[in-house]
Amino acid sequence: MVHKGFWGKLPKPIIGLSPMDGITDASFRHILAKHGKPDVMYTEFVNVEGLARGAVKMLNHFIFEKSEHPIVAQIYGNEIESFYKVALMACHLGFDGIDINMGCPANKVARRNSGAGLIRVPNHAQKIIRMVKKAVQDWSEGITLEEADLRPKNILALRKMSPRAGARKKLPVSVKTRTGIDAIIAEEWVKVLLEEEPAVIAMHGRTLKQMYTGDANWEVLGKVAKIVKKTKTLFLGNGDVKTLEEAKQRIETYGTDGVLIGRATCGNPWFFKNHIPTPHERAKVAIEHCRYYEKVVGGTAFYSLRSHLGWYIKGFDGAKDLRIRLMLSNSTEEVERIFNDFFKNNKI
Ligand SMILES: Cc1cc2nc3c(=O)[nH]c(=O)nc-3n(C[C@H](O)[C@H](O)[C@H](O)COP(=O)(O)O)c2cc1C
Repeated sequence: MVHKGFWGKLPKPIIGLSPMDGITDASFRHILAKHGKPDVMYTEFVNVEGLARGAVKMLNHFIFEKSEHPIVAQIYGNEIESFYKVALMACHLGFDGIDINMGCPANKVARRNSGAGLIRVPNHAQKIIRMVKKAVQDWSEGITLEEADLRPKNILALRKMSPRAGARKKLPVSVKTRTGIDAIIAEEWVKVLLEEEPAVIAMHGRTLKQMYTGDANWEVLGKVAKIVKKTKTLFLGNGDVKTLEEAKQRIETYGTDGVLIGRATCGNPWFFKNHIPTPHERAKVAIEHCRYYEKVVGGTAFYSLRSHLGWYIKGFDGAKDLRIRLMLSNSTEEVERIFNDFFKNNKI
């Protein structure tokens, strides 16, 4: 049976934030929830083998706050037992859903038959979905972290992060994938996934081999949508959507239940409410983003915010110097000072 959970309650069409490693972290999601919330958000992907073996630092990717609901934890890997354990962790932390990444094309991921590499091993991919479904079922029936044999180090970190366990509800399980490995096999592939009755299948209209080159193939996504429509599973198209208007057109033309949007939201947390911010608003929110990052995610890797800063000032007149200074910044205080100097010296 398809268990849709919160997905079934979302108004259609669904317009969600696509997961992006290194981008859709707790600070960006916080900013989005405040300035233009999508219908659903996903975390960055988290490696199940690493986390299950005790790399608790990875739990940073699972930080979220109330305002971000509904939020889906995205996980990736190959080892079935590790999927089970990390799925239980997501249940404990109070996520609304769990998504299995079957789309990452990065060589270090896909060559181990993780991410998009799972398209190569359909039987194994099916077993993973089954195992994650078993975890959410066991959670809803009351299994404890100890009974599930999680490492004490993980249990300690999880209870510190979330002293109260998430509700004993059964989370919906979804899959995000691509159209194939070297060649497009989207129609056969989606049928394999549908046998496991996931709540949602989101598909990026490129093969693994294409990485991010060429155009996302929406004609293929349209064909897949027709197949998925015959079932209770929801289907979200993904790839190259640049505006909200375009999102609606694609949904209508290709008959998907919704879309996920990734890169077009970079530096544009107003995307989902179609607001065009002034340069002053952009600066204010960029500073807010940095401040939240320092407070919640951890200030040591402040440099990871620099790409966000570059995106926030896209389209600023005379921003060459501003960009150079921001690319060297190391703290929110510094970013604030740099923007103040810029506005003092430029009449914007
Ligand atoms: C920097 C970057 C990181 C990404 N990380 C993830 C990820 O962690 N999980 C995932 O499913 N997809 C990931 N993706 C893929 C996006 O979710 C999305 O499928 C892809 O960018 C196409 O959508 P877009 O054209 O709207 O950006 C990533 C994409 C980019 C550019």
